Amino acid sequence: MTIANGHRHLAIPGPTNMPDQVLNALHSPSVDIYGGVSEDASRSCLKDLKKVFGTRTGKVYIYACNGHGAWEAALTNVLSRGNKVLVLVSGLFPVVWGENAKKLGLVVEELPERTGRAVDARAVEARLKKDAAHELKAVLMVHADTATGVVNDIASVRKAMDAAGHPALLMVDTIASLGSIPFSMDDLGVDVAVGGSQKGLMTPPGLAFTAANAKAKKAHKTAGLKTSYWDWTFRDGKEHYMWYAGTPPVQMVFALRKALDMILAEGLGKIFRRHEILGGATRAAAEVWCSKGEMAFAVTEPKERSNSVTCLLTPEGAGPTIMEYCERNLGVTIGRGIGPLTGKAIRIAHMGHVNGWGHLGTIAAVETALQALGIEHGRGGVLAATDYIARHVK
Ligand SMILES: Cc1ncc(COP(=O)(O)O)c(C=O)c1O
Repeated sequence: MTIANGHRHLAIPGPTNMPDQVLNALHSPSVDIYGGVSEDASRSCLKDLKKVFGTRTGKVYIYACNGHGAWEAALTNVLSRGNKVLVLVSGLFPVVWGENAKKLGLVVEELPERTGRAVDARAVEARLKKDAAHELKAVLMVHADTATGVVNDIASVRKAMDAAGHPALLMVDTIASLGSIPFSMDDLGVDVAVGGSQKGLMTPPGLAFTAANAKAKKAHKTAGLKTSYWDWTFRDGKEHYMWYAGTPPVQMVFALRKALDMILAEGLGKIFRRHEILGGATRAAAEVWCSKGEMAFAVTEPKERSNSVTCLLTPEGAGPTIMEYCERNLGVTIGRGIGPLTGKAIRIAHMGHVNGWGHLGTIAAVETALQALGIEHGRGGVLAATDYIARHVK
């Protein structure tokens, strides 16, 4: 017996649910790409993306690609073959970005991970102080790691770099935080930020962004890895098609325009607070589930848990079973463990177009699965989540 029929819900950490307005915007006829409504949409998206990235003076670029592409765009625009970069490992995605860098001919050094923890800013400072010759040209980090649900304190890393007097570029992947968790490129002193359309921005996968400040634009002038497609200089050109180094992905830009309209109408502050409450409710439920039995938070330190996704370690093999139960029987798809956590975790996303009733349904579905599958857990997670929301939403 399944009771999955009805409105299905997606609770994986990207791609996320799309609002109807965004979906409808995709259903647009093709239009002239050399001006008119397509150029207007691009121009206004570029302007509003600056608000989302929290930059007044930086420049945003839109790419027709996924996050892996934007990683490459970021690196190739400011670095040269043989340059050394320091990757701050916390979770899976910094490691993968580092692999991407290696393939481009960069020399990658990893600052080792403290398992289940965010980046240790003291270790960053100590490492950079040892680099008296300033061989490290960039520090790469991920704001929120989607595989483990860890969130990094970018301000503390910036402070560490300044305390070490190190001139490396600070490059931050905001793919799982943009539009969900407070991020301000200017205030945090981030030189290059990378983002994607498919998570907090509620738009289909297929657009990705880099944002560059003046220091990054200076480094760009001498970067040797530039290619014609990723190149910021070409994309700074006057004509609309140059902004994309080719045909603009018009329907995707229309969809992004709608998403940005919704984001600005709600207001970033309120969006961050909504994510904080939904994340808090998830953690309240998970604390109860983890109080007994064999489940645990992938992130050990409570204040390092992201408001965009929660990752819970499960008994070996149970993760996929919980996920399948929720999808097949209840109509909600939660995230599976990925990378080293494949088969060993579940991920509950609370990111993008998600609200109280929908998310409470996801939490209740997970608890139902734990019960139905006989996985040992503390009972009453749903009650803890509703209590949490009742306390925070008056
Ligand atoms: C934090 C983070 N960085 C980078 C990526 C890679 O993005 P994409 O899969 O769009 O290439 C992801 C994907 O989930 C991610 O979560």
